Amino acid sequence: MSTNDPTILAASRPATAESTTGQFSHSYLAIGHAFRTEAHRDQLVCYSPVTRTKVPITTEQISLWTLFVGGASVDAVWRGAFHQLAKAWSFSQDQAHAFFEETLSLGVANGFLVEETILSPEAVAELRFCNHKVEVLSFLEEENDGIDIPLRRLPHLDFFQNHRDQPHQTHRLDRYVTQLLAHVPDEERPAQKKRLIDQLVGLYQAFATAKDPQAKMNQYPLFVGRRPDGAMAVLNRTTIAAIAQVLGLNMRAQILQTEDFLGEIIAAPEDFFGTLRDNQPYQSIFHDGVELIHGRRPDLYERLGMIRKEDLQGKAILDLGCNIGMNCYLAVELGAARAFGAEYSENLVNVAAGLNGWFGRNCRFRQADLNEPLLFKEPYDTVFMFAVLGHLKSSVGILQTIKNSGAGVVYFETHRRVQYQGDLEAFLNADLFESTEFIDYSFDNSVTNERTRRLYRCVVKRG
Ligand SMILES: C[S@@+](CC[C@H](N)C(=O)[O-])C[C@H]1O[C@@H](n2cnc3c(N)ncnc32)[C@H](O)[C@@H]1O
Repeated sequence: MSTNDPTILAASRPATAESTTGQFSHSYLAIGHAFRTEAHRDQLVCYSPVTRTKVPITTEQISLWTLFVGGASVDAVWRGAFHQLAKAWSFSQDQAHAFFEETLSLGVANGFLVEETILSPEAVAELRFCNHKVEVLSFLEEENDGIDIPLRRLPHLDFFQNHRDQPHQTHRLDRYVTQLLAHVPDEERPAQKKRLIDQLVGLYQAFATAKDPQAKMNQYPLFVGRRPDGAMAVLNRTTIAAIAQVLGLNMRAQILQTEDFLGEIIAAPEDFFGTLRDNQPYQSIFHDGVELIHGRRPDLYERLGMIRKEDLQGKAILDLGCNIGMNCYLAVELGAARAFGAEYSENLVNVAAGLNGWFGRNCRFRQADLNEPLLFKEPYDTVFMFAVLGHLKSSVGILQTIKNSGAGVVYFETHRRVQYQGDLEAFLNADLFESTEFIDYSFDNSVTNERTRRLYRCVVKRG
């Protein structure tokens, strides 16, 4: 390859993104196959499945755009369209380089391009798991002392390493799969379990016996995101990742921008308190004071700001009706020691636990119906009970839950003025409390922009 050949720019481009472990090499990949174009008069609109937005492309940008359309990868672009364009426009090496830089930043900024990296099996083993399922949460937590779980700790790796020759003997994966199939009727479970485990062995064999296992593995990129603490989190293909670890294969990984990575996690729940309404989560996603994804309740810091420091700092928080877990994360960010969220929707619990793979905080989540009293292994100090009472049949179950938690104080938020308030009087006047203090009105939501929710601090009677 001659040095005047613009195709070498891709290879010679220095790594720009900081490597968190030093194990990454960097390149960029256009996910051209995933784009669709729509003609709009003289304007093109492109749809990015990564950002889930449509981005208009002006006519001046069409020439740039041609770089991305139809190309499966930047590799193809360099070898094809980019090379031809640079040649057709008689670009000098410098011009071609500047064009490349501009193209790259435009592509990354608009979500057409994702950064791609190659992960060694060791780096894959350290990726944090972000794809929890309600059924296996307690299994994972008990085994891993929390839900900040590196892939090497999932039972898949142990299975492929030690049990693939006798796959139906008892092993951790067997217990994991049993829990995963908890919803399947008893009589059907053994057959489904066998089928699932046989499928895993088949998948392993397909890689192990492939003519070129690395080339086969290259067809399965991971989607990863950078966590605030510098670790990497992963959304998909955790089983294939376990095979890569056992066979010592590298994996391609597309490093999504933070909002795209989090967007993929929260896209799952299509229920009212998920992203169904206005395509927004109920709670905004914040980190360190910055709103990363806008939700219908963007006032989370403001609401937590109404909580006394002594009820938060170093305390164990119980969040009842926790939604995607933001009050748990932010409470820990603001100084709480740990937080536990209970939530009825399985989808939302999956999301809360998935987000924890990115936040990496001392938070746990569990699916629970607050109409029934909950029991706890550990005591709590402070309960959050925000905008949830009106969804319950009565206050009986949740009052017993508060009692069982051992907490000394409950922060209770009503619903907005026009909504059903639930068993409000019974709750506020419950014998459980020695005092109930009105603090202030909190924000309704970003649609109505009013302040009609009341926030109370209820002190639990001792003894
Ligand atoms: C209005 S949202 C409030 C979310 C969160 N507490 C906040 O204010 O930021 C109500 C939440 O309560 C949950 N929920 C409703 N009924 C429930 C039940 N029976 N048990 C547990 N959670 C419930 C909903 O799924 C939803 O996430």
